[in-house]
Amino acid sequence: MEGVSIFSALLASITFGSLAVFFIGASFSYGFYNAFLHPLSRYPGPLLMRAYMFPLIYQLCTGQIAHNLIAYHKKYGPVVRIGPDALSFISGKAWTDIYGLLPGRCQNLKDKHYFIPGMGGIILSDNSTHTQRRRMLMSSFSARFLEEIQPMLMKYVDLMMARLRERIDEDDTTQDIGKWYNWALVDFTGDFSFGQSFECLEKQDWHPWIKTVFDGITAGFAISQLERYGLYTFLRMVLPESAWKMKKDFDDFVQAVVHTRLEKGQGTKPDVFRNILLNSGGEELELQPLYHDSTSLIIAGSETTATLLTAATYYLLRAPEKQDRAVEEVRRMFQSDVDINMHSVNGLRYLIAVLQETLRIFPPIPGAMARVVSQPEGQMIEGNFVPYGTAVGVHQLAGSLSPRNWTRPDEFLPERWLPENKEEFEGDHHDASRAFSYGPRDCIGKNLAHIELRIIMAKLLLHFDMELPKEMEEWRSGCQPHIVWDKPPLMVKMKRARR
Ligand code: HEM
Repeated sequence: MEGVSIFSALLASITFGSLAVFFIGASFSYGFYNAFLHPLSRYPGPLLMRAYMFPLIYQLCTGQIAHNLIAYHKKYGPVVRIGPDALSFISGKAWTDIYGLLPGRCQNLKDKHYFIPGMGGIILSDNSTHTQRRRMLMSSFSARFLEEIQPMLMKYVDLMMARLRERIDEDDTTQDIGKWYNWALVDFTGDFSFGQSFECLEKQDWHPWIKTVFDGITAGFAISQLERYGLYTFLRMVLPESAWKMKKDFDDFVQAVVHTRLEKGQGTKPDVFRNILLNSGGEELELQPLYHDSTSLIIAGSETTATLLTAATYYLLRAPEKQDRAVEEVRRMFQSDVDINMHSVNGLRYLIAVLQETLRIFPPIPGAMARVVSQPEGQMIEGNFVPYGTAVGVHQLAGSLSPRNWTRPDEFLPERWLPENKEEFEGDHHDASRAFSYGPRDCIGKNLAHIELRIIMAKLLLHFDMELPKEMEEWRSGCQPHIVWDKPPLMVKMKRARR
């Protein structure tokens, strides 16, 4: 008997050993093929990333990819292979080739690996559905509609200023300015989209569901990466429904907001849903994509703009001579709130340069909005042939901080955007900074975002004198670029402006 059990143990260990040898051999051959024989093998990149997918997934989940890509592009050049079938680009030409709609070529699809399964609506839809959904939202971003909702925007910006004044008068002079930007923009976006403010400014607190979704963005992104190995589907099957409660509760909240709005009917007060109902011509609306688009509006409409404003405040306050120049410009042009509107702010040349430079140095979506080469015979990107099915993208932060694109790329220099300094910055490639993306799937809200950025910043500089406390000087090094930025609070000392 003992002989038999020794024999089975031996057999088991041989079988296990053979399996292990087979597995190691197969993995090695797979990696060797990818690195040296694959159609993308002529593109340079770190060896392990050329061979296997897991280093990219690991870097995407931990947020290390952004900083690593800056180094990779410095070392390997303008095109870097970052996965067996993934290429990273950084030039202005790559933006047009990857994201643009070029004659005789089909539009590249979004890479679904970057989204949680089940996500949909305008952001993830395939190209033909996208055209339909974009058309449905388009009228809510037209110049005429933006003019119509201007008083609504002013209401929230003025409320933000009034609340800040109250806090300062109560001697609460150091404020987490990013939180205030977020509150004002969340409230406005709620009213703009659904005719309903989320009342963050009123209550001086986060709306619980909005906070939940902001906190969950990075985790959701990591989960989307796990699905490459089928792990999200597996987790959905094995984990109890209670584990998904947060996501379900948020979905329920969005659905309730949509239904409350739909029950009110078209109405006359301007908001996105009034336009949707008006354009639908009385036809019944498909609810599921409407829920997805509503989620996109809440998130895309507030977090990005608030991030940009927070970073612009930081960079300005860190450079007192630039702050003085922006403040002087605003206070010279505007005596009071009534002078500030969506047209008059376009005259703030220096402030606009400050915002442009912040979009470059701190793009609110710091990574790549990945696409998949969708032309069956492949396509040329920046003069390089790229086969069908390859994941491609321009990594925003890597492009923004590359010496190939910019003179003194790591420095915050609004002056580079002013025509009078053209000679000094003649090496700059402005087309390499595309914080709102490019092409038919670029940011539909970019004109609204510019108005929000300029008006909020102008009013803040008009009404308050601000200073960066010493302990905030290194705020930027505490910011982690994931799908959006993970940022520590930016505390700012504020006083009513002395004029
Ligand atoms: C500084 C502010 C903003 C930045 C940097 C920004 C950035 C972006 C980017 C990069 C995309 C394209 C994603 C891709 O190519 O895959 C996008 C799409 C989008 N953004 Fe923005 N965004 C901002 C503000 C806004 C605002 C204010 C709204 C609306 C209230 C908005 C609504 C949307 C929507 C609905 C899409 C999807 C468009 C489509 O797929 O056709 N964004 N945004």
